[in-house]
This record gives sequence, structure tokens and C-alpha cells, in this order.
Amino acid sequence: MKVKSSAPGKLMLFGEHAVVYGFPCIVTTVDRRLYVEVKKIEKEFKIEAPRVKDLRFAEKTVELFCRKYQLPNRVLVKIYSDFSSNFGLGSSSAVVVNLIFALSQLYNLKISKKEIFDLGYEVVLSIQGVGSGFDLAAAIYGGTNYFLTAGREIRQLPIGSLSLVVGYSGVKADTSMIVKELRRKTLNKKREIFEIFEKIKNIVEKAKIALINNQNEKIGQLMNQNHYLLQQLGVSTEKLDEMCSTALLNGAWGAKLSGAGGGDCMIALAPKEKVKDVKKAIIKAGGMIINVKNNVEGVKIEI
Ligand code: PMV
Repeated sequence: MKVKSSAPGKLMLFGEHAVVYGFPCIVTTVDRRLYVEVKKIEKEFKIEAPRVKDLRFAEKTVELFCRKYQLPNRVLVKIYSDFSSNFGLGSSSAVVVNLIFALSQLYNLKISKKEIFDLGYEVVLSIQGVGSGFDLAAAIYGGTNYFLTAGREIRQLPIGSLSLVVGYSGVKADTSMIVKELRRKTLNKKREIFEIFEKIKNIVEKAKIALINNQNEKIGQLMNQNHYLLQQLGVSTEKLDEMCSTALLNGAWGAKLSGAGGGDCMIALAPKEKVKDVKKAIIKAGGMIINVKNNVEGVKIEI
């Protein structure tokens, strides 16, 4: 018997970094998916994933899953995806979530979404040492979620898809390094940095309401404010800043970096009639457009 499943990639809309310290964030899913196939075999477990650079997440997931449910690790795992792991769309968390889900189906175990999250979070922390787990929640629940550190609250927002433009900066960000660097900064400048986190929290709360009420202009303004605060934290780059400002100059309601910063992607929210201009401007600034639809289904069985 073989089980195949898929999970979506993600984009951080609001609240990155602050979410690591107990504040909320808002994360959405995108229609670039990662696929996993699992099959029982006679021999020791094996992974076939030619495009996955870092196999630690898959290996650790199988190890912890089999230990927790007292199963032999005699499985063949195949992994492939619609997107490059360079984009920062959450390929590692999609691997972890997919694997826990597919293995639970293969062994007929009833596991709740929260249990998938908790085991997945254990895997991520054991490898990265840091992280809020927001990307796991996106891959599991799908849609767009208001999320609190370590999954203390995961609430799906009743919204549709946004008119988002996604620009890849061409640089792969090292998320755990940037998070650890900021942690070091918080030791010296705790008050200053936590004041910024408080401001980010207020933006997230306002953004939650603006998203539910479909107030695009307001959402855009909040994105700009959030980007400014990320600049203050020192996690943006010249390239990301340039891609954001050119998006604004070309008619976007708002723009910000998405994720840890230091590279990866920026996102812009633009009126439909301006999307083409915004995309062109981002390309001119040296970015690459990743065409996505957001707010899609979480982990699921593929036939
Ligand atoms: O770089 P990404 O897309 O994985 O986002 C990281 C977001 C952080 O808040 C900086 C870290 C985290 O785990 O929440």
C-alpha cells in the first residue's frame, strides 16, 4: 500500500520575528505544494528526494514518528515539489507535516491536527533550535491563520484570496541564523526591541480586522508599517527595500518583506489593474516574480 499527500507553501503576511517571542502573526498558504509518498518496505527506511537539499527534516520526522507510535521504520519516502526550496515558501515544514500525515494514514492512526503540529514542532525545534511553528500551522490547517507562538492559538481567518504580488530577491535567507542574531541583539537592547515587537503586535491585531473586512488600502498601510519596523530590527536588505518601494511607486497599496528577511521574498498588495505594473517594476529592481494564489487547502491526501 502507498499513501500520497500534499501540503501547501506559505507566506508570512504580518508579525514575523515578534511571533518567536510570544506575539501573534498572520500567515497565509499558497498554491505551490510539496508532495510526499510513503510505502511500507522490507528493508530499513529510505528517502528518495533528489531536489531536497536538507534531508534532516524528513529523517527526523520518520525517526520521531516511529518512536512515538512504536512502529518499525521500514518505509520508502519520496518527496517532490512545485517550488524551489530556495524561495523560503516553507518547504521544510511542508515535508514534516506531509510526512506525519501520510505515515498516520499508512498505519491507520487517528491523529488530530494539533497532534501533527506538536510532533512537527518537536522535529523543527530539534533541528533548528528556534522557531515559532507558524509554517507548520499553515501547512496543516491551510487558509490564512492568526497564529500564536508554539501553536498556543491557531485561528483561521474567514477571508478569501488577496491580490498579492510575490517577488523573490534572488538570495536564500538563513532563517535560523537571522533569528539567532536577533536573539543576541535582544540581550543587549531588550527594551528597545520589545517596544518594536509591541508595535508589530498592534499592527497584527489591526491587520486581522482589516483582512476580515476586506479593507485593502488599510491592509496595505499596515504592511508598510510592518516593513518599517522590520527595517528597524535590522532584518531587511537593500534589495528587499528597493523591491518594496518600487512596488509602492507603481501603485501597490502596501509592500513588505515576508519571513525572516536577509533575502527570500517580499510581498505587495496591489489593485488588480496595477498588478502588471507592480510585477514589471519588481523585475526591473532585480526581483523574480513567483505567481501564486493564496489561501488554499492544508495537508490532504492526493489520489
Ligand atoms: O524565513 P521564514 O519564511 O521561514 O520565516 C521566518 C519567520 C520568523 O518569525 C522570523 C521565524 C519563525 O519561526 O516564526
